[in-house]
Amino acid sequence: MNFDDCKILLEKHGQEHLLKFYHELTQEEKDCLLSQISKIDFELMDSLYKNKDVFEIEDKEISNINAVDKQRINKEKYEELGIAHIKNGELAVCSMAGGQGTRLGFNGPKGTFMLDLKEPISIFEIIINKLKDAYRQYGVLTYWYIMTSIQNHDETVKFFEENHYFNYDKEHIIFFNQGELPLLDETGKIAFKDKAHIFMAPDGNGGIFEALKCEGIISHMKQHGIKYLAIGNVDNILINMIDPILIGLMVEKNVELAPKSFMKPSPEGKWGVLCKMNGKLGVIEYTETPKELREARNEEGELVFGDAYLGCSFFDIDLLERIAIKKLHLHAASKKNIVLDNMENKKELNTYKFEAFIFDSFSEAKDVLVFRVNKDEEFAPIKNKEGDESPKTAIELYKKFYQLD
Ligand code: UD1
Repeated sequence: MNFDDCKILLEKHGQEHLLKFYHELTQEEKDCLLSQISKIDFELMDSLYKNKDVFEIEDKEISNINAVDKQRINKEKYEELGIAHIKNGELAVCSMAGGQGTRLGFNGPKGTFMLDLKEPISIFEIIINKLKDAYRQYGVLTYWYIMTSIQNHDETVKFFEENHYFNYDKEHIIFFNQGELPLLDETGKIAFKDKAHIFMAPDGNGGIFEALKCEGIISHMKQHGIKYLAIGNVDNILINMIDPILIGLMVEKNVELAPKSFMKPSPEGKWGVLCKMNGKLGVIEYTETPKELREARNEEGELVFGDAYLGCSFFDIDLLERIAIKKLHLHAASKKNIVLDNMENKKELNTYKFEAFIFDSFSEAKDVLVFRVNKDEEFAPIKNKEGDESPKTAIELYKKFYQLD
C-alpha cells in the first residue's frame, strides 16, 4: 500500500494521525510504517473499540458443570490405557509463553524466569525435566511446542540455544509465534510506540489456534502421528501435561476436549470459573465474573461455580483444526502503557488491549469432560511479584509436592 492509499484508508477510520510523523522518517522507516498500517484490520479495530464495554456473558444462560473428580475414578484403569497411547507417541505438549508477565514485573519471557530451588532453575528447565522424566518412564520423546509472541520470540530461542536445549533433543522443541493487535488509546486512536512504530501487543492466549494452523504446527502433529495436544500456561511450575490418566479418560469416554480444574477454596481468587453457557462448556474469566455468580452456593453450602480453570487443557487434533478457522471473541482490557502522545512525548497512558481467551474455544467441542484435580498436586502459578501466586508461594508448593528439604 502506498502513502496515498494509506491516507484514504486512515481517514475513513479516523486514524489519520498514524501518518503524522511520516515526513520525519527515513525511507526505510516510511516503508516499514506503511507496511504496518497495511496489515491492520481497521474494520475490526473500529468494532472492538465500539464494543469494548460489552461482556460476552451478558446475554447468555449460565449453569453449572459436573466435573470428573480424579479422586473418585478408577485411576489405574485409565492410566494403563493412557500409557499405551502415550507410548504410541500420540501426545504432545504446548506451553503458552507469549504473555508479557506485567504483573510479575519481569521484562523477559516468563519461561526464562529463574527460581531458587536447590539450585537456580528457570521455568522452562522445570518443564524440560518433566519431559525427561516422561522419556525415562515411557521411552518416548515428547514434542514440546512453545508459543512465543513477536515481542519475546528471539529472546526465548536465544535462551534455549545458550542453554543447549537443556540436553533435550532440539528437534523435539518447536517454537511458533502468536499474532498481535494494535493498542488503542482511550479515544479509540491506535497508539504509537515511537514515531515509526505502531504499538502492537500479543493477541491473547486464544490466538493459539490460528497460530497452530498458520505456523504449521497442526501439519507437524499430523506428520508425526500426534492425536492429542496438552496446552498449558507456562507460568505453573506444577503443571502436569503428560497425564496418562486424562488421556485414558479421553479415549475411553471418547471426548475431544478435557480442561483441568480444581475446587476453589473460597469465592475469591483470580481464576476463571468453568460453567455452561447456553448449554456449552465455557469459562467466565475472573475479570468478568459477577459477584452473585462467584458467591452462589447450593443447598449443601458448596460453591455452585466452584471449579476454577487451572490453565491446562487437552485437545484432540480434529477439534484444534475446527477451532483454528473460527474467530474467537476479543476481550478488551484497560492497561497502562508507555506510548507516544500527541505532543510527541512518551507518557504512561491508559490504553485498550484486545485479547482472545483460549477457553472461548471450548464451546466448539462436541464431547467434553472437565477433569478436577487436586490443587496442591498440579497448581503452583507464578503471576505476581509478591503475595499470592508469587515466586515465593510457587516454590513452597513445589517443594511441598516433591518433598524437598
Ligand atoms: C489464566 C486464565 C484463568 C485461569 C488462570 C490459572 C486465561 C485467559 N485466563 O489467567 O482463567 O484461572 O490462568 O492460573 O487463560 N499468554 C500468551 N499470550 C498472550 C497472553 C497470555 O501466551 O497473549 C499466556 C501466558 O504466558 C500464560 C497464559 O497465557 O502462560 C495465561 O496468561 P494470562 O492471559 O495472563 O491469564 P491469567 O491471568 O494468568
